[in-house]
Amino acid sequence: MLDRLAELQEEALKQIETTTDLRALNDIRVSYLGKKGPITEVLKGMGKLSAEERPKVGEVANKVREAITLAIEEKLAALEKAEVEKRLASETIDVTLPGRPVRKGSHHPLTAIIEEIEDLFIGMGYTIAEGPEVEKDYYNFEALNLPKGHPARDMQDSFYITEETLLRTQTSPMQVRTMEKHNGKGPVKIICPGKVYRRDNDDATHSHQFTQIEGLVVDENIRMSDLKGTLTVFAQKMFGADRKIRLRPSFFPFTEPSVEMDISCKICNGEGCNVCKGTGWIEILGAGMVHPNVLEMAGFDSKKYTGFAFGMGPERIAMLKYGIEDIRNFYINDRRFIEQFKRA
Ligand code: PHE
Repeated sequence: MLDRLAELQEEALKQIETTTDLRALNDIRVSYLGKKGPITEVLKGMGKLSAEERPKVGEVANKVREAITLAIEEKLAALEKAEVEKRLASETIDVTLPGRPVRKGSHHPLTAIIEEIEDLFIGMGYTIAEGPEVEKDYYNFEALNLPKGHPARDMQDSFYITEETLLRTQTSPMQVRTMEKHNGKGPVKIICPGKVYRRDNDDATHSHQFTQIEGLVVDENIRMSDLKGTLTVFAQKMFGADRKIRLRPSFFPFTEPSVEMDISCKICNGEGCNVCKGTGWIEILGAGMVHPNVLEMAGFDSKKYTGFAFGMGPERIAMLKYGIEDIRNFYINDRRFIEQFKRA
């Protein structure tokens, strides 16, 4: 019996030694150590042995079993390790291969110009405010000193949604919304960029949707000269230090006095050309001192506080700055156009 066990051990270890795959190894395990295997068979015959022999044979049988189990485990670990190494070798990536090119996007020229203007005013201590494009008639007109039936409402043909709501025709309603939030206490110093809508027929200089940037400063002792100084800094930073500005009297219901600002034409240097229509000046924005009615309606004491406001169109500014001739270029998203304006 002991011989038989020694034989079995030798046979099993030899087979384990020579296996090269996991399945065969499992078969060996089942055939030697399983319930119907030869070792169990030997142990079954132990009943015929004498009382002295029995524990000896039992001990040897256990040792054989342990030796086979251990050999199987070691082989299993070795085979698994080899498997992993094989996969690692076959799946390695060649990191020296050139990558697929990724197309780099660019800022839309309007985004670039709006961010440039924002940066400029942030540098002068302004913060940015944003508001809704679907606006109440109250904020878009009424609280800006344009009561219902006011003839100046016709200056801005509007898309009404209901009697009391419309797509904002200007960013000026943000003046009122911002002042309301300040609860009658200055200082207020914001710019508000955003989309606006007017019922215009689209052509080279008109679009039913375009953008504006509104500016508002309210505090004690704000004067017209503050407005002029601010706009001069803006114009010269935007268009070059050699630009001159001029303010012409104008009319907006929410500012008094109201002005329009022109800059000297860069193309002809003020001599007169077709871009400035022979005048030497190009209009770039509307502005004025906040009307006392507007201050009062938004909860500010107009005896204590004064302010200035301005509104400009980034499209117009980009068109002048880059010599773009048709406003529709901003909206048709032709990449040949857009990609020319990578932001520095
Ligand atoms: N909201 C005016 C417009 O759209 C521009 C403006 C803003 C004028 C602020 C004065 C002050 O024409």
